[in-house]
Amino acid sequence: MTINIILLGPPGAGKGTQARKLVDDRGLVQLSTGDMLRAARSSGTEMGKRVAEVMDRGQLVTDEIVIGLIREKLSEGGNGFIFDGFPRTLAQADALGHLLDETGMVLDAVIEMQVDDQALVRRITGRYTCGNCGEVYHDDTKPTRRAGVCDVCGSTDLRRRADDNEDSLKTRLLEYYKKTSPLIGYYYAKGKLAPVDGLAEMDQVAAQIEGVLPVSSEIATGT
Ligand code: AP5
Repeated sequence: MTINIILLGPPGAGKGTQARKLVDDRGLVQLSTGDMLRAARSSGTEMGKRVAEVMDRGQLVTDEIVIGLIREKLSEGGNGFIFDGFPRTLAQADALGHLLDETGMVLDAVIEMQVDDQALVRRITGRYTCGNCGEVYHDDTKPTRRAGVCDVCGSTDLRRRADDNEDSLKTRLLEYYKKTSPLIGYYYAKGKLAPVDGLAEMDQVAAQIEGVLPVSSEIATGT
């Protein structure tokens, strides 16, 4: 069964954490525009340099660039997508609607991950990720079992993001409330919105998300 969902929420809401779990559990393809843009910035191209400046300030990259990135990935096909950090503006949401129509895909649900701003600051300032496999950790809530070594792949390349500081976070939150939060009403009106409590434990958040998704074909057929 193909499932296409959006994970919608402010920076640090847990979108990436839950997306990785859905990839493992359901075999969906994670389309994170943040990850795609970080790959673009490390390419060292002129476009990558411009993207890096915008991201480090905590502002949004232009709609044109991110819609282009998503269009490219959708044309590769897949067994269902998790849109993680996309769309982030009404223009991006409209563009995604057109892209899905063109490719005959349906949007099943928009998972709104609800968290409060104080929790976001704690989550963002304590976050680090594995530079090799992308596993996400946190100083307090999810440290690596062995200090400095990724639990999943054993890499010692653990990194903190350049935009994970309090200044950039303030801008990222403002951008979220000004430009992205209107999508809550947009998808509510389309009957797609499914709010979950993003402040719950990670496994409980995952269970809430599972609760709003269609039963996967493996579960339905017992295969
Ligand atoms: P992006 O990479 O998308 O970042 P973000 O939206 O700011 O979200 P984060 O990755 O910071 O947080 P998350 O919700 O994934 O949380 P995570 O699971 O890591 O975007 C970065 C930048 O790229 C943007 O600012 C912009 O410049 C640009 N960009 C990207 N997409 C764009 C677009 N569409 N248009 C324009 N520009 C775009 O969790 C955070 C921490 O909390 C982790 O340490 C985790 O372990 C912990 N945690 C997670 N869940 C829980 C839980 N339930 N309980 C306790 N701790 C938890």
